[in-house]
Amino acid sequence: MSAPNIETIVSLAKRRGFVFPSSEIYGGLGSAWDYGPLGVELCNNVKQAWWRWMIYERDDIEGLDSSIILNALVWKYSGHVATFNDMLVDCLACKARFRYDKLEQDYRVENKIPRNILVAPEGVLGDLECENCGKKGRWTKPRQFNTMLKTQLGATAEVELDDEGNPYSQADAYLRPETAQGIFINFVNVQQTMRRKIPFGIAQIGKAFRNEVTPGNFILRTREFEQMELEYFVKPGQDDEAFQYWVDAYLGWYTKLGLKSENLDLHEVDEKERAHYSKRTLDFYYRFFPEREDESKQFEELMGIANRTDFDLSAHSKNPLRDDGKRINPDSTEDLSYFEEATKQRFYPYVIEPSAGVNRSVLAFLMDAYSEKTNDKGETRVILKLDPALAPIKAAILPLAKNKPEIVSLAKSIKLSLQPSIRAVYDDTGGIGKLYARQDEIGTPFCVTVDHQSLEDEAVTVRDRDTWEQERIKITELEGYLQKRLKT
Ligand code: GAP
Repeated sequence: MSAPNIETIVSLAKRRGFVFPSSEIYGGLGSAWDYGPLGVELCNNVKQAWWRWMIYERDDIEGLDSSIILNALVWKYSGHVATFNDMLVDCLACKARFRYDKLEQDYRVENKIPRNILVAPEGVLGDLECENCGKKGRWTKPRQFNTMLKTQLGATAEVELDDEGNPYSQADAYLRPETAQGIFINFVNVQQTMRRKIPFGIAQIGKAFRNEVTPGNFILRTREFEQMELEYFVKPGQDDEAFQYWVDAYLGWYTKLGLKSENLDLHEVDEKERAHYSKRTLDFYYRFFPEREDESKQFEELMGIANRTDFDLSAHSKNPLRDDGKRINPDSTEDLSYFEEATKQRFYPYVIEPSAGVNRSVLAFLMDAYSEKTNDKGETRVILKLDPALAPIKAAILPLAKNKPEIVSLAKSIKLSLQPSIRAVYDDTGGIGKLYARQDEIGTPFCVTVDHQSLEDEAVTVRDRDTWEQERIKITELEGYLQKRLKT
């Protein structure tokens, strides 16, 4: 089984220290969540698994950690200033704000109107009840809303007017809405310092920020989130093949780490919905809402793979000229093209971009790991069957008698001896049944019990989270045994 709904995970996450609502003592912030002791381990393990896969297990990808705040010109030439918009509408009665594209999509589904037929806002909003206050048809006109989060750097600079008469200041800056642009502007730096020939990729993990109109559904849509992005540079003409390669690779990665194929759905994004730079986009959807009756509404985007063509590298380059001979980008000081020695050709590589959210991946892994099992006494227990590589705690060392100093001391010393290489905890705050249940619920793959016998035979009992089977292992062999089983 998987989690029956996101709420089950929200409650487990709060109860067991994975994720807490942020700023709760001040009434919360709606869209922000804090990762607790187990949540931060889980996020780190997801990121580490991805980084290992990208950088250590392959030979063609370099890592990068670029700034969150970049020169504002980056966002001008990437197209974000002009096009990173959501259409929004407000309810005139209660002032609640909604994304117009979502309302339009629901209207299309309900009335079976295909995408190629235009629908007017009056049609979508005319009879629509506000989800917040229930009033009908009292809406503003849909309008554009740029979802980049703006900030100011240093002491406030003088405000000037741009070409279109809009006020701006030299100090204006944005928190990045994607990590990708930091990669594009460093393409030549990385390629030349690492002496790379295409095809090769640059991978980056980091925070991104979007002023989402309607954040919600726990960590699925927040204004601050983390991305794991790969920009894979190929020769034009080899982009379609590389695209398919990364689709298959990501399917393999997610399913190997625990996502069930039946909960994944590949969604080919049609031209009208695609970002302006994309030749093809394929989104991976995950069944985040299994409780919804209509199966088409059960899925939401987990990650996306886009063929960004040569858009970004040429947009940030000083060289390409417009038809009238003027530079497309008069501000850039660099040409981000690539010179191919073998053919003596210079060109802008095409880019295949798999872009995955850390938080959405964490939520999907938690949902598919969730299971319930009934013990001999008829009690139902939650077991989080996380892949061992993702589990926050790998082993729990539990003394069978907490009032026996020799047993407690042996258990604590085993925990300390494992800890440098295996994340382990010691727990004696309950009976053994309770301690097992606690570890099952947080996904700890192994419980190690130290008993009276251990003092004599220098062995411990290792219990498997998923089968509840137990095995007696010599203490001297324990670390090797766990290392081996954790890698399976
Ligand atoms: N560079 C391409 C890009 O950013 P995107 O589809 O806008 O593409 C990629 O974002 C991924 O980032 C999404 O598939 C999702 O996993 C994650 N993501 C985007 N917006 C998010 C949000 N508001 N909250 C949580 N994750 C988000």
